[in-house]
Amino acid sequence: MSNTKKKKMTVPDFQKYKDEGRKFSFCTAYDYTTASIVDESDIEVILVGDSLGMTMLGYNTTVPVTVDDIIHHARPVVKGAPNTFIIGDMPFGSYNISKEQAIESANRIMKETLCDCVKLEGGVVMADTIHAIVEAGISVMGHIGMTPQTATSFGGFKVQGGTPESARKLIEDAKALEKAGVFAIVVECVPSVVARAMREEIHIPILGIGAGPYVDCQVLVTQDLLDMYGDFKPKFVKHFAHVREEMIKGLNSFHEETLNGLFPTPEYSFNKEVDIPRLY
Ligand code: KIV
Repeated sequence: MSNTKKKKMTVPDFQKYKDEGRKFSFCTAYDYTTASIVDESDIEVILVGDSLGMTMLGYNTTVPVTVDDIIHHARPVVKGAPNTFIIGDMPFGSYNISKEQAIESANRIMKETLCDCVKLEGGVVMADTIHAIVEAGISVMGHIGMTPQTATSFGGFKVQGGTPESARKLIEDAKALEKAGVFAIVVECVPSVVARAMREEIHIPILGIGAGPYVDCQVLVTQDLLDMYGDFKPKFVKHFAHVREEMIKGLNSFHEETLNGLFPTPEYSFNKEVDIPRLY
């Protein structure tokens, strides 16, 4: 079933929505079924994030995720969500060697998945690389603040920009990315006032995840917002439904009805009479 109200966003629409003061939202998907559900919802944007390393593959971090993993998961998402803008995440190690390596990885993600853009982590230090990818003709979304791929360097998944100096540095990161040509920036896990101050100094949209209310778009990982991922819950995650609980309830009902002989009833069986010849 498709959402007939929904018109697929384009890269220029991100700026248009911001300029018109029109908020939007994005979430993650890593498979066909989830993508088709998001496509049927009103959410405008899907990220095939390297968070799939944790939610789909069971790693403790996003670091082991490869370009092949992203491509493997993004293909069914693109197929399942034709009316939704789709971002392909660039995983750790796919853009930190050289500009050439970064362009090659971005080319693969775009050509082999047909995503609408790529996203990569890093501020000032990644600006030249980002500029090179943009010059190569690929739309790039930035990602600063708490950047999971390099989280070990700042002691784990922690709020960033909590001091005047680190807040200033984040704003300088955002300005460098804007100058490098990104069309929007994900800002993760920063105090609300830092995102607000950043918004006053850059013109492109800020897509906030744990960045408070003063941003242009809210982002959450689908497994978090639907309460499916049981390992931990960051402070900024609100559960908008309890899908894990519902799934366990459904699985247990199936199990119980199987044990009690209540499933399958004729409604769920093929009831045609067949006269089977005896062999003896
Ligand atoms: O991979 C991911 O899900 C992300 C979001 C946290 C923005 O990068």
